[in-house]
Order: sequence, then C-alpha cells, then structure tokens
Amino acid sequence: MHITLRQLRVFESVSKHLSYTKAAEELHLSQPAVSMQVRQLEDVVGLPLFEKMGKKVTLTEAGRTFRSYSQNVQNELSQAKEMMQALKGLNQGQLNIAVASTVNYYAPRLLAEFHKKYPAIQLHLDVTNRESLLKKLRENDVDIVLMGQPPNDMDLKSQAIKENPLVIIAPPEHPLTGKKKLKLKDLKNETFVMREQGSGTRIAMESLFEQHGLMYKEGMQMTRNEAIKQAVRAGIGLSVVSTHTIQLELETGRLCILDVHPFPVIRHWHMVYRSGKRLSPSANAFVNFVQEYTTSTGNT
Ligand code: PGA
Repeated sequence: MHITLRQLRVFESVSKHLSYTKAAEELHLSQPAVSMQVRQLEDVVGLPLFEKMGKKVTLTEAGRTFRSYSQNVQNELSQAKEMMQALKGLNQGQLNIAVASTVNYYAPRLLAEFHKKYPAIQLHLDVTNRESLLKKLRENDVDIVLMGQPPNDMDLKSQAIKENPLVIIAPPEHPLTGKKKLKLKDLKNETFVMREQGSGTRIAMESLFEQHGLMYKEGMQMTRNEAIKQAVRAGIGLSVVSTHTIQLELETGRLCILDVHPFPVIRHWHMVYRSGKRLSPSANAFVNFVQEYTTSTGNT
C-alpha cells in the first residue's frame, strides 16, 4: 500500500472533527484538497473510510479500524521527533497539556514557572471540561492532563497536585449570607446555577446533594466559571464553585461563601497521563518539574 503521511494527516483530522470543513481549516487546505486526499487514500485502501449522510460525516467500520493504525503511526512519528530532540537536549520540543476549565485558575502559574526553567519548550494549553479531557486521554491526543478526579476505567498514572475546595457562593444581599452553621437542608428549594453536563464540579455537586437528599431547583446552566459568578452576583441563584475561581470576588466583597455543612468539600486536582505512554523528554521534564514544584510549595 502506498500511503503518504499527508493522507494520514488529512484522514486523522477529518476523523477527529468529523467534518471536511474543520479539517481544511485545521490543516490550512481547501476543502476540495481535503476531499481529494481522502478519496486517494480510500482508493489505496480499497474501502470507503467515511460515510456522508447529508452534512453528517461518520467513520465506516473500515475507517474506525484504520484510525487506530493511523494514530499509532502518528504517535510513533511524533515520539521519534521528540526522541531526536532529546538527543539535542531539552533545547526544543513541544508539550501538549490539557486542563479542566476550573484548573485553569491555577495552571498558568505552574506553566509560567515551567517556562522559566525550560524556555525553549513550546507549550500548547487546551482548556476544556472533564468529558473532553477523558476523550483526549482515551485517544492519546495529549501529553499530560490536569483534572479533578481521574476515571477508574482507564489505565492511568495520576498524582494529586493541588487541593481544590468546593464552596457554595451567594451574593452579599442573599438572606442566608452571614448565617452561621447552616445545614444543606436549609438550602431546600434554593435555585442553583449549574455548570454544564460533563463538568467535574457539577458531578461532585450533584452526587453530594443526592447523598444528602437535597431537593434544589436547577437554574441556568453555564459552561464558564466566570459566567456562573456573574449570574450568582446578579441574584439568579446560588452555585457550587472552586475557591480558586473566586479569590478576587471575595477580596472585593462581590460574592460570599455560605457557611454550610459539609462545605468546604475538599477535592484534589491531579496530573494524569496514560500508563503505557512513552513520555517525550518535554513531558518527562514537566512531570518531574510538577513533582518538585508541588513538594516545595505544598499542594494546599
Ligand atoms: P471542571 O473542573 O468542573 O471545570 O470540569 C474539574 C474538576 O475539578 O473536576
């Protein structure tokens, strides 16, 4: 089979986005050029790799099987590139890090320190929610992930790097603000502004409220901590957030933490990567750096 690397790159991009247009954008190609590469690859392989129903693109069974081989080739190539760079020292290299949106209130500090130590390593940071982090780990599409609770159903190496206390926030004028020793049942029928499905914070909040049998009203749903804070500030409802996200609002008195048992609920953020993964020299340097950094600064 005479398959070119260019065809593999195009195939990979179309299967990732399930869109010829997005693949064309990502690869800086025209859409007909993308379609042509896919067609040529399908000719070589002798089977259709994608199915198009209207505007929807899906992988065929052959496409799904081919993808696992194609990903292996891409991974081997990028590892070969990293290893060659290792032979030249850590004077170059690239590190792909993905962090949960809440972790992004902490990650830039960490990355800034890492960058001071290894200025030549190019950092790519992707900020997304728990669900897409899991997808990235599953598809081996990232070097290191910083997230909340690692999943149990994947073979991963993980290490707690930072405490993540969750609290209930309210605006200063809310009737419960300032009250001492509230119980969760005192929040019965309160409206809660919710993070989106797939957010680690939301999962933690829902399971805790369910354990305590709290009946609450689900208010607006928002994908950004910043939007949640504005909504709570505007009196739309209460919410559960990480204390790392509200430092400024606490200092200026725009938001308050309610004194509700069992909050603060202490969770942890973790550094995570696939167990079998051969870490690139840059990723290895990052893992060692984070271990030293969290030991010297403490993870609280
Ligand atoms: P998230 O946070 O709510 O932004 O997904 C991750 C987590 O703390 O689990």
